[in-house]
Amino acid sequence: MKNQKFINHLKKKYDRNFFYFDEFMEESLYSEFGYFSNGKVRSSKEGDFLTSPEVSNFFGVFVSKWLISNNLDNDSNVLEIGAGTGSLAKQISNYLSKDIYVTELSKNAQKALNQENIILENNLESYMNKNVGAIYMNEILDNIPCSVGKQIDNQWFEKTVEIDKNENLVYGQVEMREKNIDWIDRYNFFNNQDNDLEIQLNSEYFLDELIKQIDPKYLLIFDYGFKYDDRNSKPYKSTIRTYKDHHFSSDPISMPTETDITYDVNFTFLKKYFSNNNFEVQLIYQYEFLDNFGYGHLYQELQDKFNQTSNIEQLKIKSELVGLEAIHNVRGLGGFYSLEAKKV
Ligand SMILES: C[S@@+](CC[C@H](N)C(=O)[O-])C[C@H]1O[C@@H](n2cnc3c(N)ncnc32)[C@H](O)[C@@H]1O
Repeated sequence: MKNQKFINHLKKKYDRNFFYFDEFMEESLYSEFGYFSNGKVRSSKEGDFLTSPEVSNFFGVFVSKWLISNNLDNDSNVLEIGAGTGSLAKQISNYLSKDIYVTELSKNAQKALNQENIILENNLESYMNKNVGAIYMNEILDNIPCSVGKQIDNQWFEKTVEIDKNENLVYGQVEMREKNIDWIDRYNFFNNQDNDLEIQLNSEYFLDELIKQIDPKYLLIFDYGFKYDDRNSKPYKSTIRTYKDHHFSSDPISMPTETDITYDVNFTFLKKYFSNNNFEVQLIYQYEFLDNFGYGHLYQELQDKFNQTSNIEQLKIKSELVGLEAIHNVRGLGGFYSLEAKKV
């Protein structure tokens, strides 16, 4: 489905008729015509996909307990990146009786956050003197535009999106930019096993900014992804995909600006990145993180309550139990990774 306004926007903004994949993803998601700038808040029931805090109100309880275990609940401030509807910030704020600062790029989500009176401040510099001890984020890095590398006979190329003579979007490829070759080199992803390589240089820039401007002692990152050694066991060449109406959707160029574009986060890159920046890193599955912060106990408590109640109250508890199971299930949200980085 052609989106002429978007194509005109691309033509006007770039003085070439091809775009690197990260540029295309940036424009498709975050430009004024972009997916996150229009429509409903995307990470909600009315939107296109559900995240852990949207599935269970208890997700924030586990993150709160993590904050408490690291003495981050009292004196220091806490910042959430990309808060979406604000569900997680609210859950934590209620549990700890403390305000949580948030950032959010999407205009629609910003409106929702303002309505909830959540403190939204996108200017990272303004956090410099706010004593932010911890930064956490859920499903953000998979939405930070990546480039796509393809290795052909030992030479690296980059996937591009082009406007053809009928003004349709088509894929192409060009020689890889030096900065991306450097990223692959620094993280030692040369042997990419015949797959496309999602190059997360923009995530690196983004994390650099967070660390340099805010200097947090802790970061906590939840997302879907893989360890590089396991990449080959995934049965697809590219991990880039789209979502719409709570389902997988079409190729990123077939309905630009109408679908979420996302990819699996390379946690081997993240681990090395944080180690190189003097952080101690713990990488575990989300279900293990939940187990570490009282999942079993909480589940049992709810189960007991369920057995002691009836009617509407019982239905409510049943739905809470179902939500808890969903964020813990290793085949679903529980199989996401949780990365904790602690400054040494
Ligand atoms: C998949 S949604 C997750 C929302 C929320 N964290 C949750 O768990 O429900 C990704 C969100 O990240 C926001 N986002 C992406 N990059 C961002 C950035 N650099 N700074 C702030 N928000 C960002 C998007 O606008 C979008 O609302």
